[in-house]
Amino acid sequence: MFDCDPGQDDAISLIMALSPGSGLDIRAITVVAGNTSLVKCQRNARMIAQICGRVDVPIFAGRAAPLKLPLATAEEVHGVEGLDGLDIFEPDLPLQSENAVDAIIRLCRSVDDIVLVPTGPLTNIAAALTRAPEIAERISEIVIMGGARAEAGNITPSAEFNIYVDPHAARIVFDAPVKKTTFGLDVTHKALIRDEHVDRIASLGTEMGDRLTGMLRSDYAEYDRAKFGTSGTPIHDACTTAYLLQPDVFTFKSVNVQVEVDSPLTRGHTSVDFWQMTERPRDTQWAVDVDAEAFFELMIGRIAAYTD
Ligand code: RIB
Ligand code: CA
Repeated sequence: MFDCDPGQDDAISLIMALSPGSGLDIRAITVVAGNTSLVKCQRNARMIAQICGRVDVPIFAGRAAPLKLPLATAEEVHGVEGLDGLDIFEPDLPLQSENAVDAIIRLCRSVDDIVLVPTGPLTNIAAALTRAPEIAERISEIVIMGGARAEAGNITPSAEFNIYVDPHAARIVFDAPVKKTTFGLDVTHKALIRDEHVDRIASLGTEMGDRLTGMLRSDYAEYDRAKFGTSGTPIHDACTTAYLLQPDVFTFKSVNVQVEVDSPLTRGHTSVDFWQMTERPRDTQWAVDVDAEAFFELMIGRIAAYTD
């Protein structure tokens, strides 16, 4: 199940996962506040599922704010509606009445070998683990977009956005006795979508291709290019789905990850024990590299699976 804060890169991750023939058994999409407010993130998630024609996947809204801190959003990156470049509409696809945290606990208790795929702040996941710690032994893997080691931060000099927004939740998740696979900025900044990739998506001539072309040619796509002086845009969250579909696209190292929560200066910093300097368990697969062209072939192939 996916836990997200759509967000354009969350949207692409979901579109890939929900695509015809993906082979993924998606039991639910849960939503957390992050890129924008919970109200807009849950609407965006419903919009995306509707665009994908996946009315079969239930969508749940979770926490509207971090465990202990006020919500920090990223409208400057994603736009005031959280999905700059996509035409916003009020979806028919309903929001489930059950809270996302209750749904996460219920599904962890009922679905064997469940995989959680959070691509926003980790508030919902942490709340579920805190309320029902026993679910940890039933979770096969938590596949996370978040954190940074060799890369600097993208919201402060030392923190990546998802971890920064709710560092207390991130500490709970990274300290939980569960296998984690984590895609930080170290790897997401190595797979930058460029004009030639977007041109290929545009050339599909499909409704999905046209929608994503508009999004990938909007101000959203320019933000990171201007900020980091790059010729492409990271599609951070899509790394999680690409891993689920084709893990060999990535290279990993087993590490321990701790999260700074107290310092105003370094809150949300992920301290990655890359060289076993501590006795802490190496329970996180940390993505260190990606075959970027294979990654984009996979992404474009999944987008092409939507035929009008
Ligand atoms: O730092 C990138 C992450 O923050 C992505 O998940 C993006 O969607 C935002 O949530
Ligand atoms: Ca996200």
